[in-house]
Amino acid sequence: MVQDVTDKLQTFRRVLVTGGAGFIGSHFVRLLLAAGISEIRVLDKLTYAGNLANLADELSAPAVTFIQGDIADPKAVAAAMAGCDAVVHFAAETHVDRAILEPAPFIQTNVLGTQVLLNAALAYHVRRFVHVSTDEVYGEVLVGAVNEAAPLRPRNPYAASKAAADLLALSYYASYGLPVVVTRGANTYGPYQHPEKLIPLAITNVLEGKPVPIYGDGLQERDWLFVTDHCRAIAFALADGQPGQIYNIGAGNHRPNREVVRAILRLLHCSDEWITYVTDRPGHDRRYAVDPQALMALGWRPTVSFEEGLRQTVAWYQQRRDWWEPMKQGEFAAYAARNYGSRQRMG
Ligand code: NAD
Ligand code: DAU
Repeated sequence: MVQDVTDKLQTFRRVLVTGGAGFIGSHFVRLLLAAGISEIRVLDKLTYAGNLANLADELSAPAVTFIQGDIADPKAVAAAMAGCDAVVHFAAETHVDRAILEPAPFIQTNVLGTQVLLNAALAYHVRRFVHVSTDEVYGEVLVGAVNEAAPLRPRNPYAASKAAADLLALSYYASYGLPVVVTRGANTYGPYQHPEKLIPLAITNVLEGKPVPIYGDGLQERDWLFVTDHCRAIAFALADGQPGQIYNIGAGNHRPNREVVRAILRLLHCSDEWITYVTDRPGHDRRYAVDPQALMALGWRPTVSFEEGLRQTVAWYQQRRDWWEPMKQGEFAAYAARNYGSRQRMG
């Protein structure tokens, strides 16, 4: 799976992965291990979204060191980054619905935390800093697909915080020559994704015998990118991306939310009656679509079809109730009551 990037990564000896106990970050740690990177440091605060169980096998590998710490804490960051030749920065508050309920943690981690990391990267002369960002920074793209030169029009506090962080990262290249590369990935899905996000929420709700809430008319479109394809794309950007450049990551798997949920229901042998249409997300972006030509010019291609990725994802959540059932208790239950409790059924 990582053969096409393994050779390219050999020039890096010690890589810091922020947010490596989260969804995409934990898959990226697996990719680095498989590529034979000799030292992988994971810096993660272990917020509600971080989970050491995502790295259950990897943490026993001698190459992997886990450090619990906040990216907004300069001391923790300095200790984690000293001696690293590359940083791949995933750590963030990532859920749009939570950002709408409470934006402050998004500014603290996504903006201020990124600036602390950038400062440390300058001090330690890292050879490459990959800032992992999102297609949401462009705002909604109603037709076609945008390239990296498109204006930033974020429309929710999460997207705005990521756009601010992107611009800060790029400013460190322009002002100080820090070798920054920014990636802007599409909606990612696969094993180990927190059940707050649409695909795992739908699968786990059905497995619990609960309805699946769809916001508004369910015709909002996202481009669904399987998590290992997203990680390979980041590895290409790490190895071969040009400093100061941005790379969009899209898979060309555009689907309306309603179709995504119906496909999950079919895989679970359930009818559409499991769907409940509820009040829309405020400021809900209708469609995201990015053009990944620049990354494809480096040799990257998505390899997992949406049908195959979704089949693997549903099977994983069916097998790993031990992983997600505890996550749907406590903190998540309180958040879900706040997020979904105020939404009305739309018929
Ligand atoms: P996630 O929410 O699953 O994981 C985030 C991780 O960051 C968690 O382990 C959490 O503990 C850690 N974290 C949060 N605040 C921290 C802090 N202050 N200090 C240290 N660690 C902290 O996120 P994800 O879905 O894996 O996303 C990872 C990155 O990829 C994010 O930057 C996100 O913006 C970006 N991204 C995500 C998607 C997607 O669809 N999931 C798509 C494009 C880009
Ligand atoms: O586009 C990349 C972004 O994708 C990432 O940057 C974010 O970190 C990630 O969370 C994701 O954002 P979205 O808002 O697109 O993902 P989410 O899974 O929350 O929602 C996907 C779509 O499904 C969106 O149109 C809202 C809708 N939705 C979501 C939930 C949780 C529902 O209809 N019902 C729901 O219960």
